[in-house]
Order: sequence, then structure tokens, then C-alpha cells
Amino acid sequence: MARLLLVSNRLPVTVRTSSSGKAILDRSSGGLVSALGPIHDAGEGLWIGNPDGELDDGAREALSHGRYVPVHVTQEETDGYYYGYSNSSIWPVFHYLPERASFDRSQFQTYRQINQRFADAVVKVTQPGDTIWIQDYQLMLVPGMIREQVPDAQIGFFLHIPFPSSEMFSLLPERQEILQGLLGANVVGVHTYDYARHFVSSVLRVAGVHMREGAAELGGRRCEIATFPIGIDVDYWQQLAASKESEAHLSQFREHFGDRKIILGVERLDYTKGIPLKLEAFRRLLELQPELRGNVVMIQVVVPSREDIDSYAQQRQEIEQIVGQINGEYGSPGSVPIHYQHQSMAPAELAALYRIADIAFVAPLRDGMNLVAKEFVASQLDRSGTLLLSEFAGAASELGEAVRINPWDVDGTADALANALEMEPSDKTSRIDAMLERLRRNDVHRWATRAIRAIDRPAPSMTTLPPAREPDELLELIKPRLDRAIKPAVLLDYDGTLREFENMPSDATPTSSIVRILENIHADQRVQLALVSGRDAKTLDAWFGHFDITLVAEHGAWMRVGKNAQWIMAESLLDDAWKKQVMGMLDEYTQRTPGSSVEEKTAAVVWHYRAADNDLGKWQARELTTQLEYALANQPVEVIEGSSIVEIRQQGVTKGAAFRALEQTFGPFDFQLAIGDDTTDEDMFAALPESGISIHVGNTPSRASERLSGPPEVRAFLRSLFPPAE
Ligand code: UDP
Ligand code: G6P
Repeated sequence: MARLLLVSNRLPVTVRTSSSGKAILDRSSGGLVSALGPIHDAGEGLWIGNPDGELDDGAREALSHGRYVPVHVTQEETDGYYYGYSNSSIWPVFHYLPERASFDRSQFQTYRQINQRFADAVVKVTQPGDTIWIQDYQLMLVPGMIREQVPDAQIGFFLHIPFPSSEMFSLLPERQEILQGLLGANVVGVHTYDYARHFVSSVLRVAGVHMREGAAELGGRRCEIATFPIGIDVDYWQQLAASKESEAHLSQFREHFGDRKIILGVERLDYTKGIPLKLEAFRRLLELQPELRGNVVMIQVVVPSREDIDSYAQQRQEIEQIVGQINGEYGSPGSVPIHYQHQSMAPAELAALYRIADIAFVAPLRDGMNLVAKEFVASQLDRSGTLLLSEFAGAASELGEAVRINPWDVDGTADALANALEMEPSDKTSRIDAMLERLRRNDVHRWATRAIRAIDRPAPSMTTLPPAREPDELLELIKPRLDRAIKPAVLLDYDGTLREFENMPSDATPTSSIVRILENIHADQRVQLALVSGRDAKTLDAWFGHFDITLVAEHGAWMRVGKNAQWIMAESLLDDAWKKQVMGMLDEYTQRTPGSSVEEKTAAVVWHYRAADNDLGKWQARELTTQLEYALANQPVEVIEGSSIVEIRQQGVTKGAAFRALEQTFGPFDFQLAIGDDTTDEDMFAALPESGISIHVGNTPSRASERLSGPPEVRAFLRSLFPPAE
């Protein structure tokens, strides 16, 4: 079995010395550790990371025994690498809060230096066949740095925070280097389709690399972007919530809070978590509904985090000031509205809080995923709580039954709190049940297995830059084969292949030189000539209708097989493999959106949400459309958002299907030559038999076997291949 080398900024263990002087490893808590800890334990791999602090010989030995490889970072380096570039530049920018960001070249240099140290540590221990999986934004240069030293390594990267829009990403002065680092991986994983889309557009705009169907081809190697939303260990949380220890905490809480309603907030003290706005919404609730004063309490747990950074220290001050004000305004001796705790909590106590809370109030301004929301749902043994969830958390796209809030809208959030306090028990139960089922299906173990499988999966056959031959050499290669053929087929794309592009497509009319070339080919009685274009039938008719050749319009949707023939729609050829993919996604959305349904038509699939909650339906429709557009980018379908529907409509068939239709009508052929310049022509190349000759026009990668640089070269080549009759 392949070894897994896990790489993360922090090692998942801390070393403690027991009373007998022995070094003992304590495993830290958190989503990543619960996902990867068991995999690390069961395998033979290594975990490479920063052990935090100095290690003596005993500690070193204990780490080595647990297969942990320490990478040391000094205090001074931590300032530049961790507090600096990671958490003062990348973190705020990726969470859309650039006003919190600072950029300092020397901090980036330290970041680069530490990333190099991690990469070197990985390279030092890596063996052929290992799978390397790097975690999170602190190590974004590492994939590229490993790739440089081990070109054929299997490298995965997972980003646990949002990937921002390309406009936001571009704020980073070192955006180029960061992207090049990430592109060193075979698979870059993110939590949501939005983050994947943002990555694809940043790669195009910042690095100038085009990702097709979510994959970039980089000199004979692929880098793929994939969506793996991280889950939680549902069984662990359910067992913990039911444990004796947790029950004991629960009884204490019950005694303490009596029958007051409880609103719970649990987060690291981080400005992305929106804690001040949450407190304001709670204040508004008490202001508007005096009857709630004394009957509702907010428990706010904040876990100390990154305290050496000014904006974190300021955030703490701000929070504590608001808590003080609200407690002063609405508290009375012996009863305060906000119970505030600035320290972390033992897991069993946390599970008890999740159980006793009437509302989990999760309102980040941005969050890659947010595990607290999921842990709360999993811990609902009585299914009696309500989750209030910010639409800006990655978890919102999976947890459609949560009460969604916009954390910036303080009034709206206060209303949502009031409504949630009034929610019918049956409504609460059915929402929790639906979310819980989804959390079970995509738990943290599935997340890890899916991601590791994607990194290990052999890349599909790659498109590379076809060889550049001298025109004479190409002619020598092809001409004798054409001469021998009895029934040759020639398929030509038009725009960008026979004819240069014009700014106005209607200006790209066929020149006399092109017409002559077509006449010469047509004069060869053996040849079946087809113009296979993305243009519409009307234009092709106007330009080439007088030729007795096959015309294929709209990338294969329509075909006319001779001068006076009718245009026929390629309905019988419908390749509806896309439907299966779409149906899978629609089923998922139907599950997430009570009241919605799917309708299947011959050439379309429709998702209806008229009967669903209007707000939720619209929200899900937007999410679905984004996801479909991304997943179906290169498929011959279009995604249309209509009135309470999302329709996925077949536009036509591919140029590949057009070739197969031609073969059915006239074939089989004993020689096939196809020339084209863009993505849609790749389908045509793929449809040719192995002996077929495909020529890509342009200097970009293609699956074609040959290449010509532009339309003038194509015309010259065709003139030599089909010289005018004497
Ligand atoms: N958590 C913890 N101790 C605490 C409170 C919370 O370990 O006192 C855990 C919580 O169970 C969750 C994690 O911290 O697994 C927070 O993850 P989340 O994705 O919500 O936010 P992050 O801190 O990663 O931004
Ligand atoms: C987020 C990040 C993690 C990080 C964690 C705690 O979840 O995605 O990479 O480990 O916060 O932050 P810290 O700075 O304490 O490691």
C-alpha cells in the first residue's frame, strides 16, 4: 500500500513529559486531526509539521516512534511566517477583509523560506509511490517546491479556508508565486464549488493558464481542482454527547440555567467569525422584545487565538466591551444575558453545550466551512435545537435546512433569532433529521478517502503540445496515405482554422482563396468533405450552400449532407451522458430543498422549486446554477434560471458525434483527416479512429497528432495536399 505523507503547519500532537519523566504524545482536537489521525495510525506513512516548541531527546524519540517528522520554526521566523504572511496577509484577503491585511515583503520571504524547509523535509523522506498531501494556506508554496525536486511525485493540496474571487486574490502582491506553488499539486481540493470557480478564474487571470473541465495541463502534467467539503466524525460527536461525562455537564447546565432559552456561540477569537455583529443582533433582540429579558441567555465561548496580532487583540477588546455594555444594560443581580468565556473547552463540555442550546448562533462574515455548525447538528440527540447559519460559511451550501442569516443585517438576524425561538418542535426535528442524514453520508472519513483517492488516481490521457513539423514533412507524411485511400474523409473547422478571426464574426466571410481550396478538395471524387463549424445553419448555407458537401452547424446540432438536402437536427444522436451527471446533482438539491422536484424531458432536465420555501429555493437555485455551470462547462448543454426553475437544456451534440454521423451516412472511411483550432474540435479528434490524422491549429496543447500554427499554414498545407487539377 502506498504510504501517505501528511504535511500541515502544526503537528497533530503535542509532547508532554509525564511525572516519571517519560515523553508522551497528546493528540490535539479538531476536524483535520479526527479525519486524518486514524488514517495515519492505521498506515505506515509520516506526518510532517511544526511541533511548537523545543524538543529534547525523549520528545524526539516519541515523535519518531509515532512517525511524526518535526520541522522547526524559530520564534523570529514564526513572526514572519505565521503571524505575518499567513495570518496577516493571506488570512484576511482570503476572507474578504483586506482592510485587516498588511503586506510586507520580508514576511513573504520568511514564508517562502519556511515553505522551502517543509518541502525539503518532505523530499528527504519521500519514496517512490508515496502520496503527499499538504494542508492549508500556511503551505501554499510547498507543492511547487516539492515538484521541482521530485517531478513525478503524487501531490495533493487542500485549502481549508475560502478561495476568494480573482479580484480579491489579486490583492496579494505575490499572487503569481502563490498560484505557481499551488499548481505544483496534482489535485487542489477546496470545500465548495464557488471556491473552485474562483480558483479556476484566478489561474486564468493571474497565471494565464486555462483550466478546462477543472484541470490545467502543464507541460505533460495535470493539476486538477476538486471540491471535497470536509465533514465531521458524526459517530464521535453522538457518542460524546451521550457519554456520562457529557451528561454530567448537561445536568449542571440545566440546574444553572433553569428553563431559560439558550443561544450558543462557539468560535476562535477571530474577526472573521463576526462575533461583535452577533452580539449586536442579540442586543437588538432584547431591545425589541423586552419580555425575553431574563428569559433568554447567550453563551459565548471564544477560544484564544493568534493573540500576537494587533487586529486579534483589538477584536477581543471590542467583544469584551460590547459584552460589558449589554450585561450592564440588560442584566440584573444574579442574572446576566451574556455568559462570556475566553478560554477553550473540553470536548465533553462542548458537546453538552451543543445539546442544551436552543439555538446555535453561527454567524461568520466568511468561513471556509465551519465545523461548529456541523458538530451542533450531530450532537442533537433530542433533535430540539435550531441552527442559525451565516450564508457566508462554506457549510451553508450543504446545510440547506438551517435558518440562513446575513450577519451584516443586524435587524434581520435579530428577527431570525426571535423566529427560531418560536419554531415548532416538529419543524426543528425535521430540519435536524435532514441535515444529520447528509452529515452522515459525507462524514469526515469519506472526505479523506475521496481526497486521497483523487490524488492517487492516474491522470486521464493528457493533451500535450503536438509536434511542430515543417510543412513539407507533414505533407510527406500524409500525402502518400491520401493517395492510397479509396474512401477518404476530410473534416474542416472554419473559424480560426481556414479563416482568421475578425472582430465581428459576420466579417469573417470566406475569401476566394478559401473557396478555391474547397473546390479543389471537392474536385477529388473520392473525398467526403465536411465543414464542421460552430456557426449556424443559415450562415453556412449562405456561404457554402452551393457546394455539394456536408455542412455541420452549431458544433454538430444540425447537419446537411448534400447540396439540396434538408438540415436535420442531430436528435437521434443525442449523447445524454450529461443527464446522468445532472440527475445526480439535482437529486442532491431536491433532498436539500424540501418541496422541490425534478422533471426529465427528451432534451432537457428541469429542477422545479415553486413548491419549496421561496427564499430557500432561490438560494439553492443560485448555488445549483453555479455548480452546474462549472461541472458542465464543456458539455453541449446550457443552464437557464427561469421562474422557479433551473433548466439544463441540450444545445446539440458534439463535433465528435457529427463525425460518427458522417461515418454512418457515408462510411466507413479508410482515411480520416480533421483540422481544427478550439476545444470543440478536440471532440472531433477524439472521435477519429487511431489511424486518423488530427491537426490542431495554434500553439497550445491538444490531443491532435499534428499541429499547424495558423490559418495561412492550414491553407498552404491544403493547397499542397489537394493541388488544383492541371
Ligand atoms: N473547538 C475546540 N475547543 C473549543 C471550542 C471549539 O477544539 O473550546 C473546536 C470545535 O469543536 C471545532 C473547531 O474547534 O472542531 C473549530 O472549527 P471551525 O471550522 O468551526 O472553525 P476554525 O477555528 O477552524 O476557523
Ligand atoms: C483554521 C485554519 C487551520 C488552523 C485553524 C486554527 O481552521 O484553516 O489551518 O489550524 O484555523 O488556527 P491556528 O492559527 O491556531 O492554527
